Amino acid sequence: MPDDGRQFGGPRHVAIIMDGNGRWAESRGRPRLFGHHAGARRVREVVQACPDLGVEYLTIFAFSTENWKRTQKEVAGLMSLFRSYIRKEAKDLRDHNVRVRFIGDRPGLDIKLQNLMDELEEMTAECDGTNLTIAINYGGRDEVARATKRLARDVAEGRLDPEAIDVETLPRYLDTRVLPDPDLVIRTSGEARISNFLLWQSAYAEYEFIDTLWPDFTHEIFADLVASYAGRDRRFGGVKA
Ligand code: FPP
Repeated sequence: MPDDGRQFGGPRHVAIIMDGNGRWAESRGRPRLFGHHAGARRVREVVQACPDLGVEYLTIFAFSTENWKRTQKEVAGLMSLFRSYIRKEAKDLRDHNVRVRFIGDRPGLDIKLQNLMDELEEMTAECDGTNLTIAINYGGRDEVARATKRLARDVAEGRLDPEAIDVETLPRYLDTRVLPDPDLVIRTSGEARISNFLLWQSAYAEYEFIDTLWPDFTHEIFADLVASYAGRDRRFGGVKA
């Protein structure tokens, strides 16, 4: 049971797999990157809707550890989009009191993007409104593997007693260590899979798989999903009180 008294209220943490940009563009006879640009524009609307919906944490999947398999042109276009998104949105995010964090394997990204990510995190570090987490070069299995490496190092160097390891231990090594677990995971575009997103953290999340393609996602759709979550009965493996 969550201890924040919200089990009959709205989700505190919503995570979104923003899928369908490519199909959205292709259906208009446009290149896939056109869809990614349209998708990036939806992010602002969703972030700004969070305070009114009571969503304190929003985590969005922007680029997975598997997305490197796309064409070089698409990957380069996405990296350039992330850089321009950060440059263009930084001030607006801070003005809206949004604290931005990034999760994923940062050293695998180009240094210019890494620097922009660091700067945006620093620039919004004092913001105490919506917590926006952007997953770039993120994979749930990769995150658990990296966390395990750090945990093993702590054991090897005598800082952690292996007998003391329990389900509370690993989350302290994950990229998401300062975030609560997601309550609601949304995936757009009609695919019903989680694609390596927040594997450990979503053990008890509620899921919404909707047909809308990400560039067509609106704050009204977001509000409906948040409202329908509030009607769900989450038991966390127990029985109804
Ligand atoms: C999946 O759609 C989407 C991505 C791999 C990229 C997500 C990026 C954005 C929404 C824009 C940028 C975000 C930020 C934070 C600036 P897809 O390409 O797999 O679509 P498809 O399944 O229709 O091909």
